Amino acid sequence: MNNPIMEAILSRSSIRAYKDTELTEGQLDALKKAALASPTAMNRQNQRFVFVTNKEMIEKINSAVLDGVIASGNMEFAERIRSRGGRILYSPPLFVGIFAMDGHYAGVDAGIAVENLAIAAKSLGLDSVILGMPSAAFAGEAGRELAASLGVPEGFEFRIGISIGYKDTEKEPHEWDESHIIEVK
Ligand SMILES: Cc1cc2nc3c(=O)[nH]c(=O)nc-3n(C[C@H](O)[C@H](O)[C@H](O)COP(=O)(O)O)c2cc1C
Repeated sequence: MNNPIMEAILSRSSIRAYKDTELTEGQLDALKKAALASPTAMNRQNQRFVFVTNKEMIEKINSAVLDGVIASGNMEFAERIRSRGGRILYSPPLFVGIFAMDGHYAGVDAGIAVENLAIAAKSLGLDSVILGMPSAAFAGEAGRELAASLGVPEGFEFRIGISIGYKDTEKEPHEWDESHIIEVK
């Protein structure tokens, strides 16, 4: 199919290992535009997109996930994370955290924005993985402090994140089941 957007959609897969190569200003700029161009219910745009390229901060968020899981008392989950080497963000050159104010469509809006970022990344020769687990890093008082240290205003909650960079592994796109399409003709 000679359509670059369909190509990006169909070839995207979750990548969980990245090369230690920084993104260019041009790539970062395009990704910021992709986030801001995402539609929101009633055009509220009640979102903040935190673009983290600081390696220490990326690792700090990564460790805060495990701390948050331990603080929640879910020791089985904490052990599973530890047994996987504590890798949550997968050390990318860019992590984007999407924060939004409460609202009926807050999660939907964030989901749309994160997919915009994933497809934009693919189109720029980059790969990504969408991440829900960082929510543990932004829970409770410690999580609020971490969000504040990133510049997230009061009232904005973490919804979803995405790690983006040059892939250092391969993964085929997931298989699907055609029967999940219901046609009404
Ligand atoms: C809302 C959402 C949250 C996700 N959270 C995580 C996560 O925390 N960690 C992770 O490694 N992958 C996460 N993923 C990636 C999914 O596991 C992945 O998209 C799914 O297995 C399909 O594989 P594919 O993306 O390669 O097609 C998440 C995906 C979505 C859509």
